[in-house]
Amino acid sequence: MVSPHISLMPLPTFFYPPAHPLSGALMDWGMANRMSRIIKPESGKTVMLAVDHGYFMGPTTGLENIKKTVDPLLPYADTLMLTRGALRNYVSPDVDVPIVLRVSGGTSILNKNLLHEGIVASIEDAIRLNVAGVAFSIMVGAEFERDTILAFTEVVDEAQAYGIPVIAVTAVGKEMVRDARYMSLASRIAAELGASIVKTYYVDGFKEVVETCPVPIVIAGGKKLPEPEALKMASGAIKSGAAGVDMGRNIFQSSDPVAMIRAVRAVVHDNAKPADAFALFQNLKKKGKGKSKK
Ligand code: 5RP
Repeated sequence: MVSPHISLMPLPTFFYPPAHPLSGALMDWGMANRMSRIIKPESGKTVMLAVDHGYFMGPTTGLENIKKTVDPLLPYADTLMLTRGALRNYVSPDVDVPIVLRVSGGTSILNKNLLHEGIVASIEDAIRLNVAGVAFSIMVGAEFERDTILAFTEVVDEAQAYGIPVIAVTAVGKEMVRDARYMSLASRIAAELGASIVKTYYVDGFKEVVETCPVPIVIAGGKKLPEPEALKMASGAIKSGAAGVDMGRNIFQSSDPVAMIRAVRAVVHDNAKPADAFALFQNLKKKGKGKSKK
């Protein structure tokens, strides 16, 4: 006889994601709630806006004043990824956007060992900031890979204790080859060591990267590309099974950032073809309507 405590009814969708997509293991409520704030239950996708660049690049183009850049984009961002300093100094605490806090850092673009990162913000501070997730970069294949990977697992242990998902950023050094083999290796390592979401770069053969990684994958945008190319890249990632994008420069350095994030949303959430999304971008830009609400 079936125990009266075990429901045979499927869980209602507002519990999404109730269970791990591959293993079926149930997530604790806090972890599931935070995951569903990052990856939207309605589409199973996310458009994360990354504005964390200052932690190693300083005031990069488009982020000289984060508030000015980000405020008009917030209605279209599913999450905002940034450092605690940027959050406290540039973002109003009454915003209704899930925060993904960058908790790794320690080197700058001036250092030859760029991205030899350690922990730069504690889980206590992440909780104080009411975050939906934390992000940490690992450098697989670098001389110092061990340091970044061990620090990452420390963050996973601490975050896990409070139901906070960790997004592993599989950073790539200048000397490393960006191909599906390398991205699969780095993404799989991140997932095996406890990442809830992996952020990586889009490459040819991306399906292999997605299929060999047991947790959701989002892509970084990378250096600024012409808008049609950036939309094509986002579409390629979605078609390959990615859960979305965590895009920075290709949005905030666009000739019309609001029109661009709306075009990216069309690709990610509505499966728009890149050409149609670019037409939307041009249309919004021409009409100056990029700034209207969702
Ligand atoms: C570095 C990062 C960046 O700081 C940022 O989030 C990347 O975004 P984009 O490449 O789209 O500008 O993750 O590893």
